[in-house]
Amino acid sequence: MNATHVGTVHNRLTRVFHWGMAPLIVGMLALGFLFEGIPKGPVKGSLMDLHKLIGTLLLVLTVARLAWVAATGHPASAPGQPAWQRLTARAAHAGLYVAMLGMAGSGFLASNFSRGVKFFGIALPQFGGLDPALGKTLMTFHMGFAWFLVGLLAVHVLAALWHQYVRRDATLERMLA
Ligand code: HEM
Ligand code: HEM
Repeated sequence: MNATHVGTVHNRLTRVFHWGMAPLIVGMLALGFLFEGIPKGPVKGSLMDLHKLIGTLLLVLTVARLAWVAATGHPASAPGQPAWQRLTARAAHAGLYVAMLGMAGSGFLASNFSRGVKFFGIALPQFGGLDPALGKTLMTFHMGFAWFLVGLLAVHVLAALWHQYVRRDATLERMLA
């Protein structure tokens, strides 16, 4: 869609997706990295079920969000930015979407082939049969995506702050609008 048709701020649902999912994703990263330090037991089991539940919801939300953004487009970037900056921002945002899909997708599949996923207490049917070796391989992707996402997010937040306080343009405001 032509950028002039989509306004100068991110539309309401794009903003709801962004700010609704951001704390969930950051919380999921923190929870994931904390797992290692939690001894095996019922507490870890419940936190794991929570991680899988929120992660599975995030997988569905990411697909819905991508469909929404594909259908409604992006506002044109704040004026006065050189082409390389606009391209870098687009690439970074595409990377964030890839990381979100990769994170939730690899976690879901890894669990599907090992211990399964419970959704609000109900065990989802496991497709493809049990395959712990494949589950383990997918878990290494899960970890890889986690670091990829952490790196990209650091750049993303620094870029937002740079736009707000150094360049002083409307980039952050149009996502907060
Ligand atoms: C955006 C979504 C997600 C994020 C950000 C996320 C993040 C993480 C992180 C950071 C870890 C620790 C990795 C490490 O050991 O270095 C982890 C572990 C794990 N995640 Fe996720 N995850 C997500 C979705 C999911 C989903 C959808 C599932 C399954 C349905 C899942 C299942 C697991 C499992 C089984 C572990 C291993 C826990 C252990 O140490 O035993 N994750 N996750
Ligand atoms: C917590 C601090 C965060 C801040 C300050 C922030 C800020 C922003 C801003 C200002 C934009 C708009 C950029 C533009 O208009 O060109 C944006 C877009 C975006 N953010 Fe964030 N963000 C944060 C967290 C996250 C998280 C956790 C994710 C997901 C992993 C994320 C994913 C995205 C994506 C994919 C876009 C592109 C939206 C589009 O399709 O146009 N952000 N963010």
